[in-house]
Amino acid sequence: MSGIPHEPYEPKTGIEKWIDSRLPILGLLHSTLTIPTPKNLNWMWIWGIVLTVCLVMQIVTGIVLAMHYTPHVDQAFASVEHIMRDVNGGWLLRYMHANGASLFFFAVYMHIFRSLYYGSYKAPREITWIIGILIFVAMMATGFMGYVLPWGQMSFWGATVITGLFGALPLIGEPIQTWLLGGPAVDNATLNRFFSLHYLLPFVIAGLVAVHIWAFHTTGNNNPTGVPVRTDSMENVKKDTVPFWPFYVIKDVFALMVVLVVFALFVFFMPNYGGHPDNYIEANALATPAHIVPEWYFLPFYAVLRAITFDILFVPAKLAGVLLMFGSIAVMALVPWLDTSRVRSGKYRPMFKWGFWVFTLNFFVLMWCGSQPAEGIVPLLSLIGTVIWFGYFIVFLPVMGITEKPLERPATIEDDFDAHYPPKPSSTPAE
Ligand code: HEM
Repeated sequence: MSGIPHEPYEPKTGIEKWIDSRLPILGLLHSTLTIPTPKNLNWMWIWGIVLTVCLVMQIVTGIVLAMHYTPHVDQAFASVEHIMRDVNGGWLLRYMHANGASLFFFAVYMHIFRSLYYGSYKAPREITWIIGILIFVAMMATGFMGYVLPWGQMSFWGATVITGLFGALPLIGEPIQTWLLGGPAVDNATLNRFFSLHYLLPFVIAGLVAVHIWAFHTTGNNNPTGVPVRTDSMENVKKDTVPFWPFYVIKDVFALMVVLVVFALFVFFMPNYGGHPDNYIEANALATPAHIVPEWYFLPFYAVLRAITFDILFVPAKLAGVLLMFGSIAVMALVPWLDTSRVRSGKYRPMFKWGFWVFTLNFFVLMWCGSQPAEGIVPLLSLIGTVIWFGYFIVFLPVMGITEKPLERPATIEDDFDAHYPPKPSSTPAE
């Protein structure tokens, strides 16, 4: 693996030499674990590990749940109740899986907003970022299809609304919708293909994560200053970094323990907090719930979808909403090129900081809008929120990069580290 230069792997024991000469997998493992990592990373760099653990947890609990679940419209709802009541530890598996999805999305939003603040998407990490967006889209598809499987009222009506969106596309819309559903409406064929894809996609995500990690191991990690690691000499690399093992492994494991304690509080004490009570009512095609809401992690995008209540020239309102919803994610993929600033980290960009916090607040406003019935102030607020979302990427970032006067940055990562933890004057270098 290329990237920041570090000590090459030397197989020591006979067995290591035997394996290494046939398959250099130990070398790969060694270079992955000992990769020189900027020594000034803060706590916002823990979310990647949390996400990795979430992915593994979702796959493991999901595989066992699938052993007891029946993907048929007559039995799906009852099979979930069977898991909850009859299967040993079934309730725990299900609550871990459902709340695990929430933790997964919480972590991914922290990870994305961290990247947006510290400019981790900027050159040379564009590919890491784009793969991240692909992961995010795959996560959304997986979460959406998983929610349909218990075959409750929200499962059914959520699926009806979301697949109905595709019908808004001109010409190709209806064939796509029928193809997704496997028929004219949400039914057994829909449940079957959603189950199949819900099982498949996490493995696609795992593949994408491997490429994501490969990409940022090639460029090296970003850090809170955005200043790159000096690679001109081994000595400077050592001054700016520490090996991932054991330093960051210890830090990440500690953070993981704290996150998992909070996760356990949800699983054991309020497992249905994020859920909707209507999903404990079996799906009924003849009774529409009063208010159809998606899971909390989709709400900002749901608000964008409903933001347009009027036709724009020849584009009907519904189609405009669909285009904006998909566009709100697509525009994020372009941010490495839309942000024109030469300074990477938001820490040294006084005007950018304001825009970033408005953008973050706006994300929560949109989340609230998505949770409310589309009446009163909600459509207007959603429209304003949508304008702010696009305005941040298309207007604010390009203009700010040119007009803003950045603050002075530390020359090196070592300087930044020493400013936080001044070296003891009396300390002598270790032998
Ligand atoms: C299953 C989902 C994901 C996993 C397991 C994952 C994993 C990781 C890990 C382990 C790191 C390095 C440590 C850290 O920054 O925390 C990282 C860095 C990064 N990730 Fe992700 N990630 C995921 C999703 C995403 C998404 C959705 C995005 C953005 C849309 C993204 C963008 C980035 C960027 C830009 C970096 C580079 C930051 C740096 O260099 O320090 N990731 N990811």
